[in-house]
Amino acid sequence: SKAPVRVAVTGAAGQIGYSLLFRIAAGELLGKDQPVILQLLDLPQAQKAVKGVIMELEDCAFPLLAGVVATDDPNVAFKDANIALLVGARPRGPGMERKDLLTENAKIFTVQGAAIGQYADPDIKVLVVGNPCNTNAYIAKEVAVKYGRVKAKNFTGMLRLDHNRALSQLAAKTGRDVASLKSLVVWGNHSPTMYADYRYVTSNGDKVKALINDEAWNKDVFLPTVGKRGAAIIEARGLSSAASAANAAIDHVRDWVLGSKGEWVTMGIPSDGSYGIPEGIIFGFPVTTENGEYKIVQGLEIDAFSQERINITLAELQEEREGVKDLLA
Ligand code: NAI
Repeated sequence: SKAPVRVAVTGAAGQIGYSLLFRIAAGELLGKDQPVILQLLDLPQAQKAVKGVIMELEDCAFPLLAGVVATDDPNVAFKDANIALLVGARPRGPGMERKDLLTENAKIFTVQGAAIGQYADPDIKVLVVGNPCNTNAYIAKEVAVKYGRVKAKNFTGMLRLDHNRALSQLAAKTGRDVASLKSLVVWGNHSPTMYADYRYVTSNGDKVKALINDEAWNKDVFLPTVGKRGAAIIEARGLSSAASAANAAIDHVRDWVLGSKGEWVTMGIPSDGSYGIPEGIIFGFPVTTENGEYKIVQGLEIDAFSQERINITLAELQEEREGVKDLLA
């Protein structure tokens, strides 16, 4: 049988953690033949709750769960980790400005980036879920690579929930099966500025843009619905999206590791300069994945409307990067 893969998960006592860990242990992340060791990180005050989650993991008697580590020390959590899901983050408190949220999280991801840079498997694949996820991933990457071991390209941010939300809106609008929809892109930041671009989407060979044939729907309904979906869930549930976020995290890492079989998926990845996005910024791009590597889909035409939307979401990311510059100096 295969050697176990070490999967570090931060924020393990949180809501997303509770939806995520059981699915990882059941083999939904890396395959039904791949044993895993979970390395769980959370704050000192959450350790008791983490113990409770571990008791439940034990009670599932998952055949693929080869071990569980619980800790409040990032250096322990990321030791030899092959995969890391950085879910834990500082939530926005009452009266907290966006700028404060950014800097409070920058501190967390600086510490975790340093731990990953020093102690993780040099080939570690990192997905940041905790918000602001693109900039948190950027910080972790910038700090981690300074140790000269891990690869910048392996730090990613989660746009997959936005991608999946957009797919489901398109399925509802066209009446087509969600599984029939191919070649969606979500450009940019995981925030309401993201640009869900369905110009290339097909369903069983039909162009979805032609099926919908309604430019006003794109601007007035589709983009705002996808962009504000997170807020709509909070309004309805009283809590932020958790099961769907965990599901998207699984989709992201599973496709990265096991391959997308030629299909496009959206990943927040460090730009290589493609589509005029400055190098290093973590930006949602269309990618295909194979043998554990992603490749940006090249050569897509960017029309005036798309360029305008891409510029807006890029400007937000550049502003976020500017806001954490001092912390990285
Ligand atoms: P939660 O508040 O239920 O859980 C967060 C957990 O992280 C808590 O157990 C907390 O103790 C822990 N934590 C906080 N700081 C930590 C640190 N420095 N190290 C380790 N653990 C730490 O939150 P929930 O609902 O699980 O969401 C987690 C994050 O995911 C939030 O930042 C949320 O905004 C983000 N999110 C991102 C989405 C995306 O599409 N990228 C979608 C949905 C949520």
